[in-house]
Amino acid sequence: MKRLQTIAFASSLALALGACQETEEAPADTVAVPTGVTTLPVSINAAMVGLIDQSADYLWAMGNGDLPKDAHDWDQVRAASYDMIIGGAVIQIPGTGEHDAEWVKAEDWRTWSNELTKIGEDALPLAEEQSTDVDEWRALGNRLIDNCEACHAAYKPEIPSQGILHEEISRDAEGVSIFD
Ligand code: HEC
Repeated sequence: MKRLQTIAFASSLALALGACQETEEAPADTVAVPTGVTTLPVSINAAMVGLIDQSADYLWAMGNGDLPKDAHDWDQVRAASYDMIIGGAVIQIPGTGEHDAEWVKAEDWRTWSNELTKIGEDALPLAEEQSTDVDEWRALGNRLIDNCEACHAAYKPEIPSQGILHEEISRDAEGVSIFD
């Protein structure tokens, strides 16, 4: 009941605000248009390491048959799927990296970034239904590798623009689960 009252209050407030906006309409040329986020607070290099690479590992683990053991593990896989969806959008926004502004203008860069988002969107339902179909995860993981590699072959400098590197991981080779 309390919730309903709150909602009723909130919507009457919205109505009041709406009415207010209508009466105080400013001339078109002085209206401040919110521009939103136009630059990243970090480099694309950092987004790549901190967001994309970090989370891609969970999706590849699934394709290697390293499966979640509990609800927390599944949560990681779902979050990793969201990170790919978000990551593909994030890397279309230039950040503090030397080449960022130039990269995001390229058409193939955008195509590969959107594909990354698409792969994340395809991973999400698998994560949500807690799919243990390793073949399906492997097929998704292969698409992911192809995506990273295609863009890296075209754009990644030998030494990352801000020197941000991912640590060497021996977990896979040693057969240690990502969920341990
Ligand atoms: C649209 C292009 C693009 C896509 C897609 C992409 N990358 Fe990158 N990645 C780059 C570029 C360019 C750099 C270098 C950034 C810099 O130096 O500023 C980079 C850097 C990196 C780095 C840090 C450098 C290093 O060698 O450790 C890692 C790790 C990385 N990417 C992993 C991935 C993974 C994993 C994927 C796929 C899941 C991926 N990237 C997809 C363009 C891309």
